Amino acid sequence: MDQVNPAGQHFFFGRGRKTMYEKIDSDLRKRIEDVVGTENLLSLPEELEDYGRDETPGLSARPEAAVRPGTAGEISALLKLANEYRFPVLARGGGTGVTGGAVPVHGGLVIGLERMNRVVEIDEKNMMAVVEAGVITENLHRAVEERGLFYPPDPASLDSCTLGGNLAEDAGGPRAVKYGVTRDYLTGVEAILPGGEIIDYGGKTVKNATGYNLLHLLIGSEGTLGIASRITARLLVKPEIRVDLLVPFPSYREAVEAVAAIQKRRLAPTAIEFMDRQCLEISRRVLQNPVPFDDAAAHLLIEVDGDEPGRVEKRYEAIGEICLEGGAADIRVADSPRYQEQIWETRRKLRDSIKTVSPVKVSQDVVVPRMEIAALLAGIEQIGKSRGVEIISYGHAGDGNVHVNFLKRDREEAGWREAVGKAVPELFQLAVRLGGTISGEHGIGFSKRDYLSLALNPAAIAAMRSIKRSLDPGNILNPGKIFPVDEGKK
Ligand code: LAC
Ligand code: ZN
Repeated sequence: MDQVNPAGQHFFFGRGRKTMYEKIDSDLRKRIEDVVGTENLLSLPEELEDYGRDETPGLSARPEAAVRPGTAGEISALLKLANEYRFPVLARGGGTGVTGGAVPVHGGLVIGLERMNRVVEIDEKNMMAVVEAGVITENLHRAVEERGLFYPPDPASLDSCTLGGNLAEDAGGPRAVKYGVTRDYLTGVEAILPGGEIIDYGGKTVKNATGYNLLHLLIGSEGTLGIASRITARLLVKPEIRVDLLVPFPSYREAVEAVAAIQKRRLAPTAIEFMDRQCLEISRRVLQNPVPFDDAAAHLLIEVDGDEPGRVEKRYEAIGEICLEGGAADIRVADSPRYQEQIWETRRKLRDSIKTVSPVKVSQDVVVPRMEIAALLAGIEQIGKSRGVEIISYGHAGDGNVHVNFLKRDREEAGWREAVGKAVPELFQLAVRLGGTISGEHGIGFSKRDYLSLALNPAAIAAMRSIKRSLDPGNILNPGKIFPVDEGKK
């Protein structure tokens, strides 16, 4: 199989390639089947095909087998088998990752967590939720909001991503501006370590100072240090009022200057999203029910929430004034749930919408200190011009976190690939120069692993590798992610 990674490099995997891993033969298949039961061992080619992809454009690698276990004990048994026979294993949540975290680039076994999808408990008194790792994030949102509670992390893929995947990637989302990311809400985890040991760390306490924080080690480890099976998350009280402002600007510069001005005034917005003109044109063309955006160079989508109508109003009016003073043509206030949902749905679908106009694209998610967002966007424009690549940018402007999409459209392959191959490291260097880093929320996975040294010094990378080696000496759990597999070493 000739694979192309999203940074535009070729990756060869499969037949004829030497590997340090054992293949899953029929005897081993039988042992795997004995663990999960025949009905939970997937073998149809289309099923395996599906388990060989996530949402990373242009990257796939069919696993040798895929299973849907029902318990932590079964996962533990599978990991023990993987060590005994030395085959690669990875866990898969909703398959919505965009850096290849759930793509089995070294083959082996994929463990789908979709059967482990129970909301185990909503403990209203302690304001805690306990869920199995395969619970879809939106289902947790619904379950807690029915009780007047609130789980803030809201990745754009929330209708299909899972809590386990959110833990593995430390998922963010628009509301991170006010509420933070997945890491800020998880308090406990039951997880299976690469050797098959089941750990139970943390629980329903909001504080925990007991030994190394193994939960936080697993959060953001991209499925390389353990597989979460059960997760405890703390909840907030659901804010009673939510108001969204949709604000068109004549240039992206004016839009991002307004972002900085809003933050300097400490008006505590929940979200400040940025979308450039092309994003809106594409949404208009692709979506059935598009939001009637103005024909402006850029839009900000700003959300404010709270409990007291007067104070919420004061804050969004102050934000509105800043936008108008900063050059906004107009401000649309959305406070009806239907209109709000329509706007946010458009925003959440941006990634898919862009994919329909350019199925081949490379998308990055650099992050810089909040006040550097204007410099970041100016640098991105410069890179696009000097490398001659079309770039569409949108994202979490309030967090300094921008989704930079390099589109191929119908350009000739070799030229595009060469230009993007140069533009991507330039973008990463720009983000680092501005005090930021190469990923704000999507992780390193497979597609950014060759760039890790642009963001981290050798001592940091060595420390990470040593953690990985000590927990997973056989390198059986999601190998090839974050760092390449060193084929020379066993
Ligand atoms: C978003 C995803 C791509 O914000 O992170 O749309
Ligand atoms: Zn995002």
